[in-house]
Amino acid sequence: MKIISDIQDLRDQLRGQNRAVFIPTMGNLHEGHLSLMRLARQHGDPVIASIFVNRLQFGPNEDFDKYPRTFEADVEKLEKEGVYVLFAPTEKDLYPEPQEYRVEPPQNLGKILEGEFRPGFFEGVCTVVLKLFSCVQPKVAVFGKKDYQQLMVIRQMCRQLALPVDIVPAETIRAEDGLALSSRNGYLSAEERSEAVQLIQTLKEIQEKVLQGKLTSADILKIEKDACAKLNARGWVPDYISVRKRNDLLSANDADLSSNQPLVVLAAAKLGKTRLIDNLEI
Ligand code: PAJ
Repeated sequence: MKIISDIQDLRDQLRGQNRAVFIPTMGNLHEGHLSLMRLARQHGDPVIASIFVNRLQFGPNEDFDKYPRTFEADVEKLEKEGVYVLFAPTEKDLYPEPQEYRVEPPQNLGKILEGEFRPGFFEGVCTVVLKLFSCVQPKVAVFGKKDYQQLMVIRQMCRQLALPVDIVPAETIRAEDGLALSSRNGYLSAEERSEAVQLIQTLKEIQEKVLQGKLTSADILKIEKDACAKLNARGWVPDYISVRKRNDLLSANDADLSSNQPLVVLAAAKLGKTRLIDNLEI
């Protein structure tokens, strides 16, 4: 595997490749990331990964400085997955001057859910992903459903800007007890780690309730509120637990519910100092 940090070197290395498949990451790789590498192989060749902890997508009080950086272990894992090039720019490589041109997603997708609780997050994500796409020029890129809203934001950006990149979604990889794998799980104490499974348990309970009965939008609101209260009583601080339509991530009204629109339930909650997100399609 070639490890490249300079944009021009990357372009030289990839010249003439027109089926490249790309997996952007922030490193600290786990089985979730590696599943994306494996899926990527089915959609193109060669497989290009990137590792870049993108300052633009972190808020001032977020964990940019302490975000886990495990470059050597990551390189070993990517070698084993047969990745052809790892693009690992430094901040100077990717942002040699202040990044003043930015991509702002539309309010109705970019400022809800994660975007409401992490102002500027999707602007940071879109800006870096567009820039990484411009460096790598992939035919296909793979994103995990673990970050459900991020996947939708990127898809819509590609559509609206006519970027010639197909976005392939990948299923969420979970630990044995159901907790979605995440680099942030490493922040959890042993006690928090055993409690963390409650997040997906709560989403499963909501999924069951929604699947069982003919519910109104008022019923859904009550289910969401009860779920927040339940987690809260166990010591969590939920940002949101919300049932949304899969196609636009807006709330379902009574007509949507009676016409069986595909739904997804999304959640973000803090356990101690660690903020976890997860979702489940219904
Ligand atoms: P990061 O959190 O490192 O995730 C990189 C990719 O791995 C994303 O597409 C994410 O959805 C996917 N992923 C993470 N955990 C997963 C799991 N348990 N199962 C399946 N896929 C999983 O997401 C980012 O980085 C950044 O925002 C990035 C897109 C790289 C832009 O900076």
